[in-house]
Amino acid sequence: MIDFHSHILPDVDDGAEDIITALKMLKRAKRDGIDTVVSTSHAYIGDESDIDSFIERRNRAYDELYNAMSIDGGDFPEIRLGAELHLKSYIGRYDTVTKLAVQKTDYILIEMPYSGWNQELYEAIYNIKLMGLKPVMAHIERYMRYRSEFHNLKALDVLFQVNADSFLSKPMRKTLLDLFYRDYVHILGSDMHNLDERKNRMAEATDILRNRYGRKFCEYLEDNVTAVLNNEQPKEAKLPKIGFLDRLKL
Ligand SMILES: [Fe+2]
Repeated sequence: MIDFHSHILPDVDDGAEDIITALKMLKRAKRDGIDTVVSTSHAYIGDESDIDSFIERRNRAYDELYNAMSIDGGDFPEIRLGAELHLKSYIGRYDTVTKLAVQKTDYILIEMPYSGWNQELYEAIYNIKLMGLKPVMAHIERYMRYRSEFHNLKALDVLFQVNADSFLSKPMRKTLLDLFYRDYVHILGSDMHNLDERKNRMAEATDILRNRYGRKFCEYLEDNVTAVLNNEQPKEAKLPKIGFLDRLKL
């Protein structure tokens, strides 16, 4: 399994509070069957110099974590560095934003603001795309109040990421099915921040996907994230229809 969204680096954002916690988070992820974790620390960018200072802080935290992993000698997933870029209308003016893409890819995880979606934001996404980046929108299910605007993101060819723990909520499972059928679900990520209330729920989510939605849904998400880490375009969805009665049982 690949976890596309995580906050494992200590002292970069509100994720892992120290190295010990980060090591435990990664070991648990590996035990849960996760082979690759994409590290997506929050990047709040004011002016362009913040991009380089973020990269510097992030890489320093990663080096320390890498050393600790080597000394520990345990079983850890592979880590790919990236960022969760908080979208602001001016971001599209900063060429160095390309440095925030997931390593070895052109894909970039973007967090939309929780209010004030407007034309300027869509233009920022458009400009980011002109730089050769491929945006992935983080936890799209948190923005259901903007559901009627999702098609604007889709028109910009963005991919949509969903958090694993959303599959643990029954009402949300129905919503997510609708989002799947509208082609608004492409990538799964844990968005893990710690070992307790924001822990990694990928294993539970994939069990739910396999058992309640069906194997094809699980495979679809796995194929998509594999394609993305290979810097390829995911294939078009061919998801089986879930009947009315099975939908009730989700
Ligand atoms: Fe996140």
